[in-house]
Amino acid sequence: MKPVSTSIPRHVAIVMDGNGRWANKRFMPRFVGHKQGVDALMRTVKACADRGIEYVTVFAFSSENWKRPEEEVSGLMGLVLVAVSKYLAKLASEGVRIRIVGDREAVSSQVRAAWDETERRTEHNERITLSVAFNYGGRWDVVQACRRAIEAGVPAHELTEARLSEFMALSHAPDPDLFIRTGGEVRISNFLLWQVAYSELHFTDCLWPDFGDAELDAAIATFAARDRRFGGVKTALAPLMADTRSAA
Ligand code: IPE
Ligand code: IPE
Ligand code: MG
Repeated sequence: MKPVSTSIPRHVAIVMDGNGRWANKRFMPRFVGHKQGVDALMRTVKACADRGIEYVTVFAFSSENWKRPEEEVSGLMGLVLVAVSKYLAKLASEGVRIRIVGDREAVSSQVRAAWDETERRTEHNERITLSVAFNYGGRWDVVQACRRAIEAGVPAHELTEARLSEFMALSHAPDPDLFIRTGGEVRISNFLLWQVAYSELHFTDCLWPDFGDAELDAAIATFAARDRRFGGVKTALAPLMADTRSAA
């Protein structure tokens, strides 16, 4: 069991918000902000790996983002294809395992094929696991997990928290230790509702395209200063309350 009170979080979850405002401030189309956001993501994955973080999970497109103008939605879908062709080889060679979490039914066959290839080419990597939440919603996740548990024939009396966790989209990762949201909004926006039960929350006004090493280190420093009690009373007990779920 790994102690939980180390200064480096094992799993960091990030709501990458503020791309549109970053572009607006520069009198540029929102799409430019999204494009810069991909570069910020690449920097951040490397920075996380360099710091010994084992899992990073990012919110790239929410179940609710379909409400945006068609032009922005199709721009984001196109950006997925560009980003995969531009960065997949590099990420694969740097030991990044990539998992896509979310409802793949609604995305185009092209995007789905890009996601499938991304997962296949990186499945044996072990340096860091990047989970990209795409067409993801925390409520969708709970419902799909319940559905799959029922389909698997799990009887009601066996449906414990641990058993349901096995069906959640992030079953390959421990729960996030640190949750970061950029862009200044102080809300979860239907990201990982089940998994953030005991995450330390960090909100910053930094717009996502500006996120870099300094911002990450500031978030980690805030995390390191927190006293994680998990409902207990003494810091000394914290290691005993560690998340014991094994991560694949
Ligand atoms: C986050 O940036 C990226 C996505 C939701 C795809 P936004 O596009 O929400 O940027 P703001 O919040 O409008 O600045
Ligand atoms: C959350 O940001 C979703 C992603 C970052 C992908 P939003 O910009 O969609 O969230 P709201 O609308 O401000 O809550
Ligand atoms: Mg936003």
